[in-house]
Amino acid sequence: MSPKPDRTDDAIQSRKADHLRICLDDSVQCQWVTTGLEQYRFTHVCLPELALLEVQTSTSFLGKSLGAPLLISSMTGGTELAKTINIRLAKVAQQFNIAMGVGSQRVAVEHPQVADTFAVRSHAPDILLLANLGAVQLNYGYTIDHCQQVIDLLEADALILHLNPLQECIQSRGDRDFRGLLARIKTLCHNLPVPVIVKEVGNGISGAMAIPLIEAGVAAIDVAGAGGTSWAKVEGERAEDLRQRRLGQTFAEWGLPTAECVTSIRGMAPHIPLIASGGLRTGLDAAKAIALGANLVGMAYPFLRAAHESESALITLTELLIAELETVLFCTGNRDLQDLQKSDCLQPQ
Ligand SMILES: Cc1cc2nc3c(=O)[nH]c(=O)nc-3n(C[C@H](O)[C@H](O)[C@H](O)COP(=O)(O)O)c2cc1C
Repeated sequence: MSPKPDRTDDAIQSRKADHLRICLDDSVQCQWVTTGLEQYRFTHVCLPELALLEVQTSTSFLGKSLGAPLLISSMTGGTELAKTINIRLAKVAQQFNIAMGVGSQRVAVEHPQVADTFAVRSHAPDILLLANLGAVQLNYGYTIDHCQQVIDLLEADALILHLNPLQECIQSRGDRDFRGLLARIKTLCHNLPVPVIVKEVGNGISGAMAIPLIEAGVAAIDVAGAGGTSWAKVEGERAEDLRQRRLGQTFAEWGLPTAECVTSIRGMAPHIPLIASGGLRTGLDAAKAIALGANLVGMAYPFLRAAHESESALITLTELLIAELETVLFCTGNRDLQDLQKSDCLQPQ
């Protein structure tokens, strides 16, 4: 079976342009569902036996060293604006040695002329760089060769497969047959030469769902929980008819809060490399997620806003996130992220 093309020739490209335009607007953030991180606070240490200059945020993930535990979550590609954004993101990721994902590369498989909008490796030769495809495409004709193709295009260190059943329900002509997908993910994990990471897109992955994915061979999980960008809202905004619009409104706040995903997965799988994302907006959020057991913290919307503005806005944002993380380490008396995780300094409010 060959990949099922989108109905109109440039449907994916115009969808990508819509996603950028709509996501840049505040109104598609969750309004009353939160990440759950606000339910925790750090115990303040008034006399840390440290100098601020000593604290350090470096870490490693999937065998690669990082300057800070930050991931620019998968976002875009496929249009000229997306290319500009991807290049800015890649340059800043390289400058700070943080990880970066790109948006779904399906558009590059089906329209090879836009492949260059993803190809950022030359701007970020050293970073942990992550390819991206929708897992459900494995049910619609995508094979290991397509996965290898998007990995090669990016010179990626790993492949992210995103799980987005709610988004596919709301998107006009979404791909809604998820049957047998776990078995296909398992086959892929055992045959691809790079690690496979599974993520959601803002509705969360529970501990109960993480276990079969880990047993299938995924190398890491990105929870992408609720509390931030709502893909039900995004697709509802783009909806072509009242039915899809109504679905988007009804499910706008659907999903598992990010903090709950992190604690439930960590409780059931103490060793799986774990990315917390979905609604995280500050270095304080990042520190809380790490204290709860995450190894890396992903953010999409904040990086998108800054990248849309300028490279220097992105640098300012990244410096700020790292300064916030360092401040938490200092004011909890922890020298590094390992100490933070070992300490008992995060408490329910
Ligand atoms: C403009 C935009 C495009 C996105 N496209 C993708 C995508 O192609 N693949 C994917 O796995 N996630 C995609 N996402 C979802 C993000 O990676 C992330 O999981 C989600 O936005 C929640 O994080 P946030 O609250 O920090 O925005 C996209 C997000 C944004 C803002």
